[in-house]
Amino acid sequence: MFDTLSRQPDDPLLALIGLFRADPRPGKVDLGVGVYRDEAGRTPIFRAVKAAEKRLVETQPTKAYVGPEGDALFLERLWALTAGEAAGGLASTGVQTPGGSGALRLAADLMARMGVRRIWLGLPSWPNHAAIFKAAGVDVATYPFFDVPSQSVLFDRMEEALSGAAPGDAVLLHASCHNPTGAALSSAQWVAVSGLIAGRGLLPLVDIAYQGYGRGLDADAAGLRGLLAKVPEAFVAVSCSKSFGLYRERTGAIFATASSADSALTVRSNLVGLARTSYSMPPDHGAAVVATILGDDALKADWMAELEEMRGRIVSIRERLAKGLARRWQVLTAVAGQEGMFSLLPLEETDVMRLRAEHGIYMPGSGRINIAGLKSAEVDDVIAKFLNL
Ligand code: LMR
Repeated sequence: MFDTLSRQPDDPLLALIGLFRADPRPGKVDLGVGVYRDEAGRTPIFRAVKAAEKRLVETQPTKAYVGPEGDALFLERLWALTAGEAAGGLASTGVQTPGGSGALRLAADLMARMGVRRIWLGLPSWPNHAAIFKAAGVDVATYPFFDVPSQSVLFDRMEEALSGAAPGDAVLLHASCHNPTGAALSSAQWVAVSGLIAGRGLLPLVDIAYQGYGRGLDADAAGLRGLLAKVPEAFVAVSCSKSFGLYRERTGAIFATASSADSALTVRSNLVGLARTSYSMPPDHGAAVVATILGDDALKADWMAELEEMRGRIVSIRERLAKGLARRWQVLTAVAGQEGMFSLLPLEETDVMRLRAEHGIYMPGSGRINIAGLKSAEVDDVIAKFLNL
């Protein structure tokens, strides 16, 4: 029976991890997969995470099952962090998931069960978005989001495309720190798109995977919070991979806001059932760490301070990179005003391959760079390599 299968290609983004590791050149630079790195090139474990882990080792009473819905304290505290002051006032529910991808997949499975015919994704988006929805049997439609040559958000065209969506269609938005472009909607654009979604009866799914890396913890969720206040129903997929540095612990959650508490309970029962038939229960450790940090004032303050330092490092590298790259591409002054880990450069795939082959600079073929992967000491050299392409 296995002969009926054909060999599948590696995920191009994840394949970069292996390619970079296998490169023996000492000066190689990894601008590939979206992980934060410090000035020593390490992806640090947050101090607060280490402290919470120590506490858990000492106090955790059991390793018995938690249940398909996950850790209730984690969900309550993460929802407060995401939805802010409005969290308690919304008829909401949440289920812990294996990472943000698990949250997206659970939302996709539930959409398929609800009969959502298609979901609208911005172009470009994280490549796995389309793959997840297609795998769940939800058709994908696209709206223009970002123009690479001019480095600008195509808001008019986005509105125009979404005005053609049918009531009941879903639409995916990135809360902030857009992957792969770093381009943000303005507050006025969030208000406008929220009104459009509510007016047309679309179902929003907001992906929030980089809270704290853009303009700050609250600012990065402001557009999302405004949207939640306007629409009767929404999904929010949260990842703790970057914000808590818990990548391999696969920590995330899918939240839904509903028009009543009763409806929220129905949504929850369906999410729980889907989890049970998919992976049964989420892993506990990362969620227990997040719940511990968010439930302790001192740990929370330390986590916020460290996250803010990381954000500051990214902002300063962005500014230097923008200034340097603008010497060749004037339009790339925009990189300084973009947010989060990524920017999408106007490069041909052949340029990307040359940078990789000749200089050991790794990035996906799209021209996306992970700015959080750059050390300050490397910035001038990397700029020079780009200018000499
Ligand atoms: C990325 O886009 O690099 C990250 O979200 C990692 C991933 O899973 O693709």
